[in-house]
Amino acid sequence: MEKKEDSIKFWENKYALDNTGWDLNGPTPVFDNISKNIKKGKVCILGCGRGYDAVMFAERGFSVTAVDFAPSAVEALNNLVNKKPKNLTVLQKDIFSLENNYFEYFDYIIEQTCFCAIHPKRRPDYARLVTNIIKKNGYLIGLWLPLNKKIKEGGPPYGTTIKEVKAHFTKKWIVDREEFSEFSIPSRKNNEKLIIFKKI
Ligand SMILES: C[S@@+](CC[C@H](N)C(=O)[O-])C[C@H]1O[C@@H](n2cnc3c(N)ncnc32)[C@H](O)[C@@H]1O
Repeated sequence: MEKKEDSIKFWENKYALDNTGWDLNGPTPVFDNISKNIKKGKVCILGCGRGYDAVMFAERGFSVTAVDFAPSAVEALNNLVNKKPKNLTVLQKDIFSLENNYFEYFDYIIEQTCFCAIHPKRRPDYARLVTNIIKKNGYLIGLWLPLNKKIKEGGPPYGTTIKEVKAHFTKKWIVDREEFSEFSIPSRKNNEKLIIFKKI
């Protein structure tokens, strides 16, 4: 059965009402810092929202594919740049439709508030999607949250635990880095964890 958060309308309505409490109104400091310290490559941002991170990675020379199915999110992202750089592709699509066209394509996938936005029943689909579209030796760079909320409390955002997140990325994955980042925004400190998984 389709869940409310599977529908474009559900998210579009949030943008229309500006009910977007997740929006940082700029690049995510944790990713901003990471982008300075990794090799350039192909980045995918799933459920990219208004796209500040997409623009930041593109400006740093990464080849970026930003995906969101809400028209207002995509419009806001397109409005962030005067002239869209060649290395920034914006797709107004359901993330779960990417598997066929992007098989083992990306060096990096950026996760922030997409895993907690989809219904928990779809988390195995999300893990399969990520596993399929990332290259071998690619990295899933995620801020996993909210850690102070239980799944059964409902959502979105739906809560998670470090144990649950890791359980989705076992086969074909190792943990490359894991920390409560000093760059987390104050309201998310200790309530989100940076875990970078490497596909082996
Ligand atoms: C909580 S918001 C986070 C946006 C962005 N990651 C951020 O941190 O600002 C979740 C986003 O995921 C998008 N989204 C949810 N499910 C999606 C799906 N199946 N395909 C594409 N986008 C999706 C929504 O439209 C929304 O923009």
